[in-house]
Amino acid sequence: MITGAGRGIGKAIALKLAKEGANLSLLARTESELIETSNEVKKFGVKAYYTVGDISKQEDVDRFYKDTMTHFPNIDFLVNNAGMAYYGELMRISLEKVVEMMNVNFFGAYYLTMKVLPRMLARGTGHIINMVSMLGMVVEPGWVPYCASKHALRVLTEGLRAELRGTGVKVTGIYPGAVRTKLLESVGRLRPGILEPEDVAEAIVFVLKQPYGVEVGDVTILPKRT
Ligand SMILES: NC(=O)c1ccc[n+]([C@@H]2O[C@H](COP(=O)([O-])OP(=O)(O)OC[C@H]3O[C@@H](n4cnc5c(N)ncnc54)[C@H](OP(=O)(O)O)[C@@H]3O)[C@@H](O)[C@H]2O)c1
Repeated sequence: MITGAGRGIGKAIALKLAKEGANLSLLARTESELIETSNEVKKFGVKAYYTVGDISKQEDVDRFYKDTMTHFPNIDFLVNNAGMAYYGELMRISLEKVVEMMNVNFFGAYYLTMKVLPRMLARGTGHIINMVSMLGMVVEPGWVPYCASKHALRVLTEGLRAELRGTGVKVTGIYPGAVRTKLLESVGRLRPGILEPEDVAEAIVFVLKQPYGVEVGDVTILPKRT
């Protein structure tokens, strides 16, 4: 399962994992982008299905899980990648925007993780990968509510890993620096020399290809040209 797979980092992850032979279940809100991603990944000969839904709505998360289970007997991995950002100083950003960021970036990942975990635990195998951010480790002016949502996601990641020790279910946090995507463009922060979505997707392949007994906890990925 990959959330936010319509474009950007999520789409790059879908393509790289399809190349490795993974069957995929994808979620985002924009159907035209999901159709494009599914068509592209199917060229690698894998199965791909999508659900149009909003990760911040519990009923949509339930539907995504149900849809996935109708297509696949088991869920081997979940990449909680869907996310969004508003940029602005605390005194200027609206409460609605702060709440939206928490709902999408933190609660979305939380809802879906809680949905898939019981079955992973029953099987004694599975992998939860959370797309955090370097802004889940530090705080920068203008990004404070986004940082809050990503710090919360880091805590979820670290807490889950600790609580799931010994169960066979792995938990990984991915911490990229700036990546060339629509998210960064939407807040006017694109600049030369930053990461490409494929750079981050490569890390997901690495993490998922580890032997059964190896858990990669956290991966930080930084641009080397800036
Ligand atoms: N770009 C960066 O510099 C950077 C750095 C570190 C971490 N990240 C994280 O990487 C992840 C992917 O971001 P990106 O940079 O690839 O951005 P992006 O190009 O804007 O892609 C975001 C994806 O998430 C989906 N999404 C957004 N809100 C959603 C919602 N409420 N429900 C379901 N899907 C939703 C989008 O589709 P719809 O809009 O169609 O729903 C899209 O497919 C995010 O968690 C972001 O915080 C990004």
